[in-house]
Amino acid sequence: MKKHNLLILLFAVAAIMTGCLSKKQAPVTQELYGTYKGGEVYLLTLTNKAGNVLKLTNFGARITWLEVPDKEGKKENITFGFDTFDGMIGGDPYFGAVVGRYANRIAKGKFTLDGVEYSLPINNGPNSLHGGPAGWHSVVWNTEILKKSDFPSVKFTYNSPDMEAGYPGNMSVEATYTWTDNNEIIIDYTLTTDKKTVFNITNHAYFNLHGAGNGDILDHQLVIKASNFVPVDTFLIPTGELRPVAGTPFDFTTPHTIGERIGENYDQLIFGKGYDHTFVFDNAEEVDASVYEPVSGRFMEVISDQPGVQFYCGNFLNGTRIGHGGKPYNYRSGMCLETGHYPDSPNHPDFPSTVLNPGETFKSRTIYRFSVK
Ligand code: GAL
Repeated sequence: MKKHNLLILLFAVAAIMTGCLSKKQAPVTQELYGTYKGGEVYLLTLTNKAGNVLKLTNFGARITWLEVPDKEGKKENITFGFDTFDGMIGGDPYFGAVVGRYANRIAKGKFTLDGVEYSLPINNGPNSLHGGPAGWHSVVWNTEILKKSDFPSVKFTYNSPDMEAGYPGNMSVEATYTWTDNNEIIIDYTLTTDKKTVFNITNHAYFNLHGAGNGDILDHQLVIKASNFVPVDTFLIPTGELRPVAGTPFDFTTPHTIGERIGENYDQLIFGKGYDHTFVFDNAEEVDASVYEPVSGRFMEVISDQPGVQFYCGNFLNGTRIGHGGKPYNYRSGMCLETGHYPDSPNHPDFPSTVLNPGETFKSRTIYRFSVK
């Protein structure tokens, strides 16, 4: 074949490929939801080929709606959120948000790196919680719809300035959500810094597989593939030990309902006011945890490369937050499986390291997969 004919052929193939790609463009719609401190806040609606809907917002890079069918095919939203943007800015307990720079607690809001002591905002008893009151859950992120993705996908990015909330280093963070046709929310995190720093990133979605606002989660059957958990003191700060779950109400290596042992007279259930603890995954990147709710048949699986998960069962919910459809989010009406590092790791050198150095890129993936049984 002559050279110019070959070139024409190559151009034709490229044009056809581009056409195919643009046809594949996955359905994501974007609408203005509100404004916050001068930034535009959007509501993004992702619909997969199964017709199921995930809604996100760039305020806190949040999941705010997740509609999946029960075993009869009836669809219902199963995650906490608000009908309007205003609900989110009244200090809600992190519904669906990406939490940083340090998810969970840092004791007394202090840690030391290379001999320098850093002080963080104190916002939970004597401790610093979830990156302080103006953490990543409450800032406006940049939004990019990933048009070439095989599935509906949105990338949120945020540049966290040096010493924001007391943490060193300009940190750049990306959280990309992909909503697959198999009803999986894939969350990909990427973090870099220009100074040595510490971090712990998670997503704080609350789930109730009966439907958000439809009663409590005590009948949900939970499995966490963790032989050990991280015991805490009365302020929910790790004591430093790892405790085997065997023979305790923390053994979820086989299915147990959340309510079955929650009232037992066990020190950690008393300190945590229920379950509010990090479980140490035995095998990262397998199915690490699952939740089954027999009435609806909904089943959720969690897969993560993070070292553990904070299992929190809504002990601090008290009905004062009115969510989607005017439903109050009552005591223990939602549960979180927040994948990440252990609380207060910067003050526990024997815990997996949460240090990030300049030149390093932290990448991590967590998947929440939904089906029925
Ligand atoms: C969880 C934490 C709980 C509580 C909650 C927000 O991540 O484990 O103790 O602070 O966030 O209300």
